[in-house]
Amino acid sequence: MKRSKIKILWPNNNTSYACEGDDWFVSAEKAGIKIPTGCLTGSCGACEIDINGETVRPCISNIKAINECPLKVTYTTDQFW
Ligand code: FES
Repeated sequence: MKRSKIKILWPNNNTSYACEGDDWFVSAEKAGIKIPTGCLTGSCGACEIDINGETVRPCISNIKAINECPLKVTYTTDQFW
């Protein structure tokens, strides 16, 4: 079965394409984005990004297709930082 490409719009206005299950960090790097990291186990929140308004932690999740396409990535703004 052929995997469909997911269009991703990045905060630096670059566009890239990925497949469901691809790694967020690798895709970000290809688009010229460096996602900050910390624990890499899902507990610190340093890597958080917003995908179409939903906050995700790329260190513990992979790219998922959603009905809304493309995926629009923005940096998470945390009012407590
Ligand atoms: S790097 Fe700590 S939650 Fe992702």
